[in-house]
Amino acid sequence: MKNRKIMIMPGDGIGPEVMDATLKIADWLAKYRAFSFDTQFGLCGAVSYEKHGVPLTDETMADVLACDAVLFGAVGDPRYDDLAFELKPERGLLRIRKELDLYANLRPALVFPPLVAASTLKEDVISGLDIMIVRELTGGSYFAEPRGRETRAGVVCAFDTNLYSVPEIERIGRVAFDLARKRNQKITSVEKANVMHSGVLWRETMMALHKSEGAGLDYENMYADNCAMQLVRTPKQFDVIVTDNLFGDLLSDCAAMLTGSLGMLPSASLGEVDAESGMRRAFYEPVHGSAPDIAGQGKANPLAQLLSLAMMLRYSFDMGADADLLERAVEMALASGKRTGDIMVAGAEQVSTDDMAGAVITALDTLAR
Ligand code: IPM
Ligand code: MG
Repeated sequence: MKNRKIMIMPGDGIGPEVMDATLKIADWLAKYRAFSFDTQFGLCGAVSYEKHGVPLTDETMADVLACDAVLFGAVGDPRYDDLAFELKPERGLLRIRKELDLYANLRPALVFPPLVAASTLKEDVISGLDIMIVRELTGGSYFAEPRGRETRAGVVCAFDTNLYSVPEIERIGRVAFDLARKRNQKITSVEKANVMHSGVLWRETMMALHKSEGAGLDYENMYADNCAMQLVRTPKQFDVIVTDNLFGDLLSDCAAMLTGSLGMLPSASLGEVDAESGMRRAFYEPVHGSAPDIAGQGKANPLAQLLSLAMMLRYSFDMGADADLLERAVEMALASGKRTGDIMVAGAEQVSTDDMAGAVITALDTLAR
């Protein structure tokens, strides 16, 4: 089999340190499992702005397009908050999402048994939690036109448009339905049909799709504000949540905290299957962001980045067994009592980013060598 080409983009803030830790695990996989890959490194975000004056160069974008998958760290740097909109670090990430047409963002929120005590919620509310948020990623208020800023009758205004078309809603709906079939057969479609035209269309389209293609799936509609409340009240009522770009951004941060820490949540962003190569465009990133307040101190939790690598193995390279192995190793490392600061509890041992990765490697050695 030809080597996989993986684009590695550590990005800003804690991105480089969690990526370094994760690449040690990738090396372990290359050494002991059938995982051969070539890596290429690319700059995105503030790091690219500092070197090239833009958050993503056209050359890097072309390199990204030529890779089988992207493993991404984080973007964002408060020092550049005042830059012009198109130069902000986040624009690099958003350009990749749009140009690869990564419309389906999968954000699984799963509570590892050793971490039940790390959540701010009570143990019985979250123990055994396993939900999947499917966030539409290339439309809605993040991208739809018109958007911008203008002066109307002497008053400065700014606006975004939460536009969705029927095909956009259908294709994200199909992804969610397929996932629900492989999981617990339940879909919650989330919008604000009580207030927004886009929400009415979202609901109509999802319900029609459920009727025509969702046989056997348990389906419900939910308003986004209610969903936020239900997520902290009784999160285990959910299996797959499918929602738009902006609500998905908010609800996935909320779901992440159920698992104990934003530092635990991986994500996969998938596009269409390429007719020529048969590969699906795919991009893997932790949900946590660049966390500038702790960057460069070796404190960051590398597990979300590492679990994003596991998602890459599962969704891009059909290596489900290795993904399972990695996830079991994470659980075993946590069971050994090692914790980064974000998931620290009394009686555990607080360790650095690298030591957390080291604990995962020790677990991998125990499980599979
Ligand atoms: C996320 C992040 C991004 C988003 C930012 C960094 C642009 O919050 O992936 O959830 O808003 O989509
Ligand atoms: Mg977010």
